[in-house]
Amino acid sequence: MRIVIIGSGGREHALALALKRTSNPTKLFVIPGNPGIAQIAECVSLKVENHAAVIAFCKHEKIDLVVIGPEAPLVAGLVDDLTAAGIAAFGPTKAASILEGSKGFVKDLCKEHNIPTAAYGRFTNYKEAEAFIRKNRAPIVIKADGLAAGKGVVVAETVAEAIDAAHEMLHGKYGDASRSIVIEEFMEGEELSFFVLCNGVSGLIFGVAQDHKRVGDGDTGPNTGGMGTYTPPKIYNPALQTRILREIIGPTLKAMHDKGMPYKGVLFAGLMVTKDGPKLIEYNVRFGDPETQSLMPLLQSDLAMLMLNCVGGKLEDKKVELDKRAAMTIVMAAKGYPGEPLKGTEIRGLDKAAALPDTFIFHAGTKAENGKILANGGRVLNVTAIGDTLAEAKEKAYKAAALIDWPEGFYRKDIGFRSL
Ligand code: AMP
Ligand code: GLY
Repeated sequence: MRIVIIGSGGREHALALALKRTSNPTKLFVIPGNPGIAQIAECVSLKVENHAAVIAFCKHEKIDLVVIGPEAPLVAGLVDDLTAAGIAAFGPTKAASILEGSKGFVKDLCKEHNIPTAAYGRFTNYKEAEAFIRKNRAPIVIKADGLAAGKGVVVAETVAEAIDAAHEMLHGKYGDASRSIVIEEFMEGEELSFFVLCNGVSGLIFGVAQDHKRVGDGDTGPNTGGMGTYTPPKIYNPALQTRILREIIGPTLKAMHDKGMPYKGVLFAGLMVTKDGPKLIEYNVRFGDPETQSLMPLLQSDLAMLMLNCVGGKLEDKKVELDKRAAMTIVMAAKGYPGEPLKGTEIRGLDKAAALPDTFIFHAGTKAENGKILANGGRVLNVTAIGDTLAEAKEKAYKAAALIDWPEGFYRKDIGFRSL
């Protein structure tokens, strides 16, 4: 099997590990990849935005499957263009990517199909947004409709903060992505990241994890892309699973099919488990980062085969086998993140950490220079460990993180606290 992965983060490093493990013999390319990925696959420096160049490469290399990691190429229609060129691509079409590309679309879909989610309003007019905020009061959540690199959500504690956020967004803070905004009720509960493989008709649960969005211990400070994950979360059980499938995932897949934009790929539901049951926070049309780094080391099924069945096959008779043990991922970020991260600092001790049993170091924002590994982004490394229990996975992951010598980096010390 000849496979291309698109992306350069820790998620793609973990996908590379899983695809490498399960489809034998595999030739694996990653566009553009990173220095960690380069240890297990061939990195190719092509501009992902140049679909023609990606297609030409895939044809030349006789690629059997393209796996797209991040949302931007999906929303830009890379799957459509690859498919038109006769290349199997895992991920939704541009049309179906609207599940991540427009928060307003998803809210309206939920309303139409009685899918539980936060009460909301959609606005393009600032005066109307302000009146809605004053009427509903704080806490309240302001969201840019379109993609804003994970930054377009403000959980406002006060009316003033909410009004400021709405004002900034509607006046172009995120360009076209925030010309329209969603303002919604603040939901109380515990968050859950739920992943389903989809083939346009049916879905197959891939796995569940819990992320830690805030930058600081005890869930303090600003939101980030995610500072650490683990699986399985204590809050997850068969009754909850049944409700998520019946009330949220099932109606969504059916609605997308009925609208003529069948959903293929992985559907990532960001859920709030409230006292009234699971509610949808948002959809993503890709695997989570860093959820994937906790899930892939546990995967025992053939990922490439599962993905090919999402592209053009049956999922009903398939199973996703995950190792029954627990896994935890700690994100190491550069000082300054989620603001301006410090770049170019040297990271040592990676090999020592990776040599520990059941431990994986996934690179995200790193670069290699003169034989050294340097920090080159906000979230820089992921340290994942597997254990018989979550407590054991945690102990191993923190032991590995402590071996990484990088004074200019930091990480949360309390990953997994909700389940431990
Ligand atoms: P999103 O980008 O939509 O996942 O939002 C980022 C984070 O903001 C989520 O992971 C939640 O922690 C928080 N959030 C978003 N919407 C709500 C809501 N309606 N109620 C409470 N928290 C929310
Ligand atoms: N970890 C959350 C995300 O991938 O959006």
